[in-house]
Amino acid sequence: MINFTNLFSHNPYYNPNPDWSGEEYSFLKTNDMLRFHKSISGYNPTPLISLRSLAKKLNVGNIYAKDESHRFGIKAFKALGASYAIFRTINKKWKNNYGSELSPEEFFNADIKRKLGEFTFCAATDGNHGRAVAWTANKLKQKSVIYMPSNTAKSRIENIKTENGKVVLIDGTFDDCVVKAAEDSAKNGWQVISDTAYEGYMEIPAYIMLGYTTIFKEADEQMNLQNLPSPDFVFLQSGVGGLSAAGTSHNVLKYKDKRPKLISVEPTDCDCFLESIKTGNGKAIPTKGKQESIMAGLNCGIPSPLAWKILKEGMDSFLAVTDDYAEKAMRQYYYPEQSDEKIISGESGAAGLAGLIALCTDENLKEAKNKLCINEKSNILLINTEGDTDIDNFKKVVGI
Ligand SMILES: Cc1ncc(COP(=O)(O)O)c(C=O)c1O
Repeated sequence: MINFTNLFSHNPYYNPNPDWSGEEYSFLKTNDMLRFHKSISGYNPTPLISLRSLAKKLNVGNIYAKDESHRFGIKAFKALGASYAIFRTINKKWKNNYGSELSPEEFFNADIKRKLGEFTFCAATDGNHGRAVAWTANKLKQKSVIYMPSNTAKSRIENIKTENGKVVLIDGTFDDCVVKAAEDSAKNGWQVISDTAYEGYMEIPAYIMLGYTTIFKEADEQMNLQNLPSPDFVFLQSGVGGLSAAGTSHNVLKYKDKRPKLISVEPTDCDCFLESIKTGNGKAIPTKGKQESIMAGLNCGIPSPLAWKILKEGMDSFLAVTDDYAEKAMRQYYYPEQSDEKIISGESGAAGLAGLIALCTDENLKEAKNKLCINEKSNILLINTEGDTDIDNFKKVVGI
């Protein structure tokens, strides 16, 4: 039976003032991500769009959508993480060879490849992260090999090939791809750029997560400039947890116990963070779901340990939504209310709005909405993390 405890949990480990001053959190002191992204040609802050009419319809104060479908022309926020992690990886090699740091501005300089030689970057992906790794490698005129589940939508595979990435299809889940990518990279001397952490592999996922914090820095700046009231709630969709960890660390470090309520959103079919919070006894556990959600980017069955330690203390609540809410949210963005702006949003991109619509309209979640105190004064920040990255399914869902 569906009731709200299957779909929602407050975080029993919530800490208003987490102590992240120790060595294991030292990566959180890194602060040159926005400067790095600004140095990439084609950089522009993605739009922050106020959906006033939708806010009225859902009876909340304001809804802001940070629209990552415009990020660097590859239609998803993932370019922020992959590019920054590859910059850091190359920088480390440069420092080992030449003793000095590379500046962000020097990163895409052809001289760097001439002096450091060729690399093959390898990643596992449901689509967007792999495309981002291939996009960065292509810009550097380096190679990439990307592992994907064999049931991945054709257009997502094509998106990677367009960036000269070599695609390897694996008969299994995203998590199986992570293991195979690591094994083959060790055999072939490739550099793994994984967005999920695992034992002995923490540094690069940390840089990827840090890269995503640019979204939240930009959003703060945009809200200030537009004189918008700051958000009371931020909805963050979680796959391996990198994006949610970025939103959480940004808000915890900047606003501490005055931070907005942060809500993780996952598919019911793959809700490893919700299950971990409810039944993991303080530990991250794999999902029991089938991992067949249309929210492909969120079909990750095992929380990244790096994200887990940040979400466990910083996140307010965990929510799971069914695929029909993701489809409703895609259509809501595409066919906006009255004067609201149209937004192109893919399945995982729409997950934040799916969570908000579910909380505001689903009888099973009434109690959750009341516990959260979402009401007509609440200001809500959503991140549309992708556009129509699976163009065929997008057209089917919105009916065009
Ligand atoms: C569009 C989209 N949104 C959200 C996510 C979740 O990000 P993470 O895996 O860092 O939690 C992904 C991951 O691939 C994604 O592609």
